[in-house]
Amino acid sequence: MRTSKGFKNPRAQHGFQGRTCSIVGVGAYVPEKILTNAELERMVDTSDEWIVSRTGIKERRLAAENETTSDMASLAAMRAMQNANITPDQIDLIIVATLTPDMMFPSTACLVQHKIGARRSAAFDIEAACSGFIYALEIGQQFIMTRTYNTVLVIGAEKLSTIVDWTDRNTCVLFGDGAGAAILQHRPDAHGLLTACMGAEGDKAELLCMPGGGSKFPTTAETVANRLHYLRMDGKETYKNAVTAMVTAGQEALRRCEIDISQIKCIIPHQANRRIIDAVADRLGAKPEQVFINLEKYGNTSAASVAIALEEAVRTERIKQGDLVLLVVFGAGLTWAAAVIEW
Ligand code: UT7
Repeated sequence: MRTSKGFKNPRAQHGFQGRTCSIVGVGAYVPEKILTNAELERMVDTSDEWIVSRTGIKERRLAAENETTSDMASLAAMRAMQNANITPDQIDLIIVATLTPDMMFPSTACLVQHKIGARRSAAFDIEAACSGFIYALEIGQQFIMTRTYNTVLVIGAEKLSTIVDWTDRNTCVLFGDGAGAAILQHRPDAHGLLTACMGAEGDKAELLCMPGGGSKFPTTAETVANRLHYLRMDGKETYKNAVTAMVTAGQEALRRCEIDISQIKCIIPHQANRRIIDAVADRLGAKPEQVFINLEKYGNTSAASVAIALEEAVRTERIKQGDLVLLVVFGAGLTWAAAVIEW
């Protein structure tokens, strides 16, 4: 079905009778503590010049020792609820995307449910690494479209500082902590989430992983001694795959909606590396002013990255009602995803 604005709503194809799904509120939380590049210079053999020129990152946030992923997720969620003007008892479902849950189980979503007092809601986590927020949006939207639920809370939250090897300069300069949240509901006056495409390439799982602590290498004194409980990454290969996958996902999402990149008001890419973002924008044919970047302040916060950036883009009015927005992400798995939203 072609909308009055000229783009196609792929969700309305094939006689689908479901409701549209919009993001009706956003919220974010980042911890107070800032870790600057200058401080990292004192921890590992690196320099502000190297970090800024190779990644664009100037500082990142670190959660306090007693501050958990669910704490950050709950604060982001409460801000999103306030922004959407809803109460906790309206929430039907909570989905948390994270690769740093408070515990192996129960899910972080259950802990958030308790902390925000959303007693009526179902709750579960999903794990798609840095792609998690768009994966979670796509899952959440199914429940709105099928009229199963009226209000879904989607959160991307990470305490990556707990799995970063602070002696490894190849990775420790890249990551930070934080959380972002979105409330999904049907809004009759907007097409909302027009499409989301998701993909994975499991044969490249070892490019970016944390080997220890799961069923393959359960925690032992040996796994700890061998540093298997830290994030490991082949940066160069991950970089190449990130650019290709984000461009492919972005193009596919635009193609499905018959939208030209010039119609997109704001592109929010995964905030991993400034050079990746520039290469993706260039290959998508986007102008720099279309691209939202805040990684200089937060580094790569994995599943929280796009959610934190989306909140800032909305709060600073880079995105206004009626604008077309493209979200595009990439992460461990490998996974990738892109979504087009009419705001
Ligand atoms: O969120 C999931 C997705 N993750 C990503 O998208 C990350 C993708 N990868 C990257 O962003 C980049 O590959 C990095 C930022 C990790 C590295 O940039 P690069 O341009 O690919 O650098 P490189 O790996 O080719 O390393 C160049 C040099 C090496 O030295 P030699 O071997 O050429 O002597 C590294 O040892 O830079 C060295 N290096 C550093 N030097 C100073 C690596 N890390 C640092 C550092 N400070 N922190």
